[in-house]
Amino acid sequence: MKVAIVGASGAVGQEFLRVLDERNFPIDELVLFGSSRSAGRKYTFRGKEIEVKLLQHNDDFKGVDIAFTSAGGGTSQEFAETITKHGAVMIDNSSAFRMDENVPLVVPEVNAADALNRPRGIIANPNCTTIQMVVALKAIENLSHIKRVHVSTYQAASGAGAAAMDELTEQYRQVLAGEPVTVEKFAYQLAYNLIPQIDVFTDNGYTKEEMKMFNETRKIMHSDIQVSATCVRVPALRSHSESIWAETERPVSIEEAREAFANGEGLVLMDNPAEKEYPMPLFLAGKDPVYVGRIRKDLANENGLAFWIVGDQIKKGAALNAVQIAEYLIKVGNIK
Ligand SMILES: NC(=O)c1ccc[n+]([C@@H]2O[C@H](COP(=O)([O-])OP(=O)(O)OC[C@H]3O[C@@H](n4cnc5c(N)ncnc54)[C@H](OP(=O)(O)O)[C@@H]3O)[C@@H](O)[C@H]2O)c1
Repeated sequence: MKVAIVGASGAVGQEFLRVLDERNFPIDELVLFGSSRSAGRKYTFRGKEIEVKLLQHNDDFKGVDIAFTSAGGGTSQEFAETITKHGAVMIDNSSAFRMDENVPLVVPEVNAADALNRPRGIIANPNCTTIQMVVALKAIENLSHIKRVHVSTYQAASGAGAAAMDELTEQYRQVLAGEPVTVEKFAYQLAYNLIPQIDVFTDNGYTKEEMKMFNETRKIMHSDIQVSATCVRVPALRSHSESIWAETERPVSIEEAREAFANGEGLVLMDNPAEKEYPMPLFLAGKDPVYVGRIRKDLANENGLAFWIVGDQIKKGAALNAVQIAEYLIKVGNIK
């Protein structure tokens, strides 16, 4: 298997190197790509140094079976044809193709088989907040159809990339040293703050990130589910948290929900309030599953359930989900 990573120097690209190794992904040859900023840099994979190549419109993708791309939407748009024209399956982390009807949008725990129908040779990885939410929603959907969801997200700095994570760390140092604070990656200082804006605003007052949660959830779950989201950047470094209210067709008891979460694929139930056990981003960074806790009946709606989830958005929200899609293709013999 010849595998390519486009955007190898980035937060998600670096996670690909770790996840592919950790999961013993079958690789005969790995090729890394970046822009002129990282071309020539070397990264070690399974004891071997690999030099980052400059991504260009040429035949570098000839022979590549799977290309994991995480270099932003513009790069994915521009290079999709170059990447796929020799038959490589492009598993894309950007938002470029997610709502394209000829591109499946896949979370393996929910709709793995959608990955088999890909007219453009592209499979899209959903937005990170949507991935972790649908893994949890699937467990409840199996009990009773979910009609609507209200969700507030608490999104870590690293969701905006490797440089954003560094900026948050530097901001804390600058504040404590009494120095002027560098603000480049976010609209405002994030250290000691919360920013209720992720991505740009759309005409209806919701941000693009919030509209991704509405649209992508429906596409992945093949559902008429309605999702109203408020997405907030918080000064955590890694792992997104979400406070979710889900309204089902019939009332679902706490016991049923707990059992469903405990047995749900890709989920870990962490819900023991008496022992102060609930998921927190600080302690779950780098973990594979989505953690669920604080499960309660919604006091304002008898068909409602309230719960809290935490997932590492660079792992399950990006690299791990993409690798799981590739593993599925291999398992069902859809790729050599
Ligand atoms: N961070 C997350 O939690 C997360 C989660 C899900 C999805 N995503 C998506 O994944 C993508 C990457 O995010 P990230 O957080 O890893 O960002 P990042 O840390 O800023 O990394 C961006 C990567 O893209 C590469 N790149 C940029 N322009 C390029 C070009 N013209 N040609 C080739 N490579 C280019 C960069 O390479 P150079 O260093 O060479 O410029 C770098 O490797 C984005 O589309 C993002 O929306 C991110």
